[in-house]
Amino acid sequence: MLSYRHAYHAGNHADVFKHSVLTLVLRALQRKDTPLCYIDTHAGAGRYDLWSPAAEKTAESRDGILRAWARDDVPELIHDYFAALRAENRSPALRYYPGSPLLARQLLRPHDRMVLIERHPVDHGLLVEALAQAPNARIEHGDGYELLKAFVPPLERRGVVLIDPSYEIKTEYKAVIALLTDAVQRWATGVYILWYPILDRAAADQILRRLVTTGIRRMLSVEFSMRPPKADGGLTGSGLVIINPPYQLDAQLKRLLPWLRRVLKADASAPSGVRWLIPE
Ligand SMILES: C[S@@+](CC[C@H](N)C(=O)[O-])C[C@H]1O[C@@H](n2cnc3c(N)ncnc32)[C@H](O)[C@@H]1O
Repeated sequence: MLSYRHAYHAGNHADVFKHSVLTLVLRALQRKDTPLCYIDTHAGAGRYDLWSPAAEKTAESRDGILRAWARDDVPELIHDYFAALRAENRSPALRYYPGSPLLARQLLRPHDRMVLIERHPVDHGLLVEALAQAPNARIEHGDGYELLKAFVPPLERRGVVLIDPSYEIKTEYKAVIALLTDAVQRWATGVYILWYPILDRAAADQILRRLVTTGIRRMLSVEFSMRPPKADGGLTGSGLVIINPPYQLDAQLKRLLPWLRRVLKADASAPSGVRWLIPE
């Protein structure tokens, strides 16, 4: 049985980074009125209580979203992310943190649709509860690596796949590459966002090297780190590879990163940046 529960990590620096980028991608795809499909292969529980014993135990949101929550200089680029946070909280305090499925629910339009896959039985149950009022959500209990192929390409032929594993099993570093390669073969024009941890530089670089050898084109890489990577493990930062990124996402990310670095108080020596792995 896998033990990872996102409740211990919700709202941390990696979530702020990932959910900011997800907001930018979804909004960019909505420049066109035609419907889109959002697919989340590792969806989590949907909503997280930052005052729960699990969240209090690690207090990771204190170095993450809680540093950004009260700011009055949130860039317009991510206003919709903050609007989603406010929509989940009636009081001025930030207690409930929306994970990617709830964030997507806030951002999607009535004619958009989503497919959410979660393997942990408890988190799957919580996800079903959190999205009880979402008519356009299909929620699957199972293995995202197995189930994704049944949903790509989606009927809409437009949309985003978020691949956000917990990397609890070492083989997942390879499995995500196979998953992406297969999905892109089935649906070449989809937008894919792959999250990876930066624990040590070598493991992160290996993912990037493997991606480059797949033959997939149009891959943008963006990383955000709080500290320089250390040999003793620990999540010092995270990265996202975006396949088929929307027009000008690279420029938007370059504008966003300095704000995130400043507000989340990243070390001056912590590497962050945007680069094309495989260009247009
Ligand atoms: C990092 S969390 C997801 C967070 C979520 N995407 C968000 O941004 O709010 C990873 C989730 O993947 C789930 N998981 C682990 N292995 C899985 C698999 N093979 N298929 C689907 N879900 C899996 C875990 O139970 C966990 O809830």
